[in-house]
This record gives sequence, C-alpha cells and structure tokens, in this order.
Amino acid sequence: MEQKNSKSISGFSKLSKDEKIQWIAQHFYENTDEVTKDLKRFWQADEDLQKTIDGFSENTISNFIFPFGVAPNFVINGETYCVPMVIEESSVVAAASSAAKFWFNRGGFKAEIIDTVKIGQVHFTWKGDFEQLQSHFPAIQQQLLDDTSHITANMRKRGGGVLKIELLNMTDSEPDYYQLRVSFETCDSMGANFINSVLEEFGRSLKHFIANCNGIEEKDCTIIMAILSNYTPDCLVRVSVESKIEDLGQFPGMDAVTFAQKFHKAIRIATIDPYRATTHNKGIFNGIDAVVLATANDFRAIEANGHTYAARDGQYRSLSSCSIEDGTFRFWMDIPLTVGTVGGLTKLHPLAKRSLEMLGHPSARELMGIIAAVGLAQNFAAVRSLVTTGIQKGHMKMHLMNVLNHLSANEEEIEAATIHFECHHISFSSVRDFLDAKRKEKVLHS
Ligand code: MEV
Repeated sequence: MEQKNSKSISGFSKLSKDEKIQWIAQHFYENTDEVTKDLKRFWQADEDLQKTIDGFSENTISNFIFPFGVAPNFVINGETYCVPMVIEESSVVAAASSAAKFWFNRGGFKAEIIDTVKIGQVHFTWKGDFEQLQSHFPAIQQQLLDDTSHITANMRKRGGGVLKIELLNMTDSEPDYYQLRVSFETCDSMGANFINSVLEEFGRSLKHFIANCNGIEEKDCTIIMAILSNYTPDCLVRVSVESKIEDLGQFPGMDAVTFAQKFHKAIRIATIDPYRATTHNKGIFNGIDAVVLATANDFRAIEANGHTYAARDGQYRSLSSCSIEDGTFRFWMDIPLTVGTVGGLTKLHPLAKRSLEMLGHPSARELMGIIAAVGLAQNFAAVRSLVTTGIQKGHMKMHLMNVLNHLSANEEEIEAATIHFECHHISFSSVRDFLDAKRKEKVLHS
C-alpha cells in the first residue's frame, strides 16, 4: 500500500475489510477504537449473507441500516396489498398507511398501465449526406437486428426485445450528430443490462455497416456512446382514486366540500408554481422511493425519470392532478416507472425477495401500479394535512417520540410527555428540560 499523504491512498480496494476500516479509523477519526467498533457492529453475523451484501458494491466496510416498514390495507384494482417500504423519514409510512385506509372504504386505487416501452440511444457522428444514410436505413436496421439476435433471443422468447429503431438527424442542434433511438420491451426485468448490451452491439454493427457499404460514400462514423435513457415517457402508469364529495367524510376544522376545494386549489398551485411543485413531487417520491428501495429497484432512475416527466412541457409541474366535477372528487397521477421483478438485486437481496413475496410475486406491470398507488397515497396524505391541520402536527408527534427514545424515556415518561406536549412547543431542548424536571421531581419524592 503506497501512502501519498495522510488522507490519500493507492491500492485501497486490495485491502481486506479489516485493513480498510483500520486505515479509515486511523486517518479520519480521533476515536479509532470506537469508530472501528461502530463500523463492525453492523456486520452480519451470517458470513454468507455478509458476502452477498458486500458483493453488491465495492470497498464496503459496513452495512448502513434503514428501517424496513409496511403499509397495510392498500386496495389496488380490487386486490389488497401490504406494501413494504424502506425509508428513514418518520411519518412517511404512517401517512401512506393512513391514506390507504382512507381509500380502502372508498373503492381503493385504480391503476392502469398505459404502456411499458423503454428507450435506448446510440449517439454517433458522421460527416456524410443524411439522405444517403436514410436510404440505407432499412438494411441497417436488419443488420443491427441480425447482429444482436444472440443477445435478444431469450428476451424475444419471453415476449420482449427490440420494438423499433429510429434514425434521428440531430444536426440542427449539433454538427454531424445523429442518433439511433431504440424502443425496447423488457417484460418483467428492468432491462438495463439487456438494453445496454444490445445498444453497444448496435454501435459496433452500425459502424461496420457504414464502413463496408458500397452505396455510402463517407465511411467514417464515430460512435460517441451507447446507453439506455432513463427517461421513458411511454413506460407509464396512471393511478387514480375518486369519491363523491359527500362520501369523503369530515376533516379537522372543515367539511368535505371545503376540503375538496382547498385540496383542488393546492394541486393547482403545485401545477403552476415550480417551487411548490418540487416539494409536492418530493412528497410523492417519499412513497415511491420507499417501495422501490424495498424491492431493490433503482430509485435514482425512477427519480430522474419522474422529474423529467414533470417538466415535459418545459416547466416543472405537479405530477398529480385533481378535478371536482358533478360532485365527484377525482385525484390521479400519470407517472413513468421502470421497474423489474426479476433480475438485478430483486432475488439477490434477501429482504427484497421477501418484499416481492409479500406483494404476491407481482409482475413488473403490477409493481408499477403498486408503486404509483403508494406515491399517490403519500401525496394525498401530505396535501390533506397541509390544507387541514398543517404538516407539523403529525411530524412533531414523531419527532417527540424520536427525542424521547434518544433520551431513553421510560413508558411513564413517554405518557406524561405525550400529554404535556399536546399543547406545548416541541423541540429537543424543551423535551430534554421536561424529562430533566420529571426525573428530578421523582428523585425528590423517592
Ligand atoms: C415532506 O417529506 C414531504 C412534504 O413536504 C410534501 C408536501 O409538501 O406535499 C410534506
């Protein structure tokens, strides 16, 4: 191991896990022994399991634990689900569960898959005449399909594969720049590896075709890159709930009509104002990401996709919509979601496997519906709080519990604090002072 200065190192990846921790603890911390203990505390006792987890990434030194919770009572297309959620933010699972329960008795969520098309691109430059290239495109397409048939064979057997190859002339935006835009169906897999393998082969095949084609004069084609696009506006699910306004019930401080009108206005605000839209959509992704993580899908891809879709007309807007017509309150969302229920980590991660079992081994399409429903439920719960009690009431309740736990409050203290903070401001110091006073009082009386 070569050490250049105290904070850099070469050959780190070759160190054992113990050596990695030792180096980190010594170079980045004062309390080396304590840090070493903390990092090792989260190692799995089951060595095989630890090996599996280490295999997901590189330079692993420990496991970072997130809570794994569930939101029961989700009715989606008539099926009842208990939905697994992995999230560190308090109130999210409680909010999802509460919204699921609310809609449970009002027909539940309806999810409809609009389409499941995934997109990939081969970006290339070429200095020749576009019409010449275009005239050879039918032959090029056939060549690309033939050259990748060994990669696509299994996917074709499952009903998927390459759906369409388009040649796009991008030279108005960038000199000599063209693109193959490829549509894929990847069935129950997210399909990233499949798509990227096909695209890279397409790149090689295209370059070869152009270099060897008699009818094409300019032979020099440069493949810049070949990669899937995480923007998939045609891998889309629509999820909705609806109710007669009078069946919505009562809300804190207001009747159902007032609630529906305020809720509708809140969605309008998130549609026209990007500042509000960002927070509004963040709330939707609180739910979406939690299920995506629990099922070991790619939450970064899901986020990027959703946010681009939210800005599809040039302005970032709410992903969800609301209408009030003929006394009916309707709340819905169209959202692109690329998820898999086979491949990737879905079976390798032991708890992701359990999540999918809990959901009844859903297909990718069914999982799209479940994830979208949780996102809409989350949004419903957040906006319901915002337009009625405000969000802090619920959040502060959870915060109080976290602080009480942190200060090792016992059951009696928790009960007293819960009553006291019903009408007092909650902060770390106010809870600490309350507990200190209670404990002093107890010592005095003992
Ligand atoms: C907090 O994580 C999410 C909310 O801010 C969402 C919203 O404002 O709609 C409560």
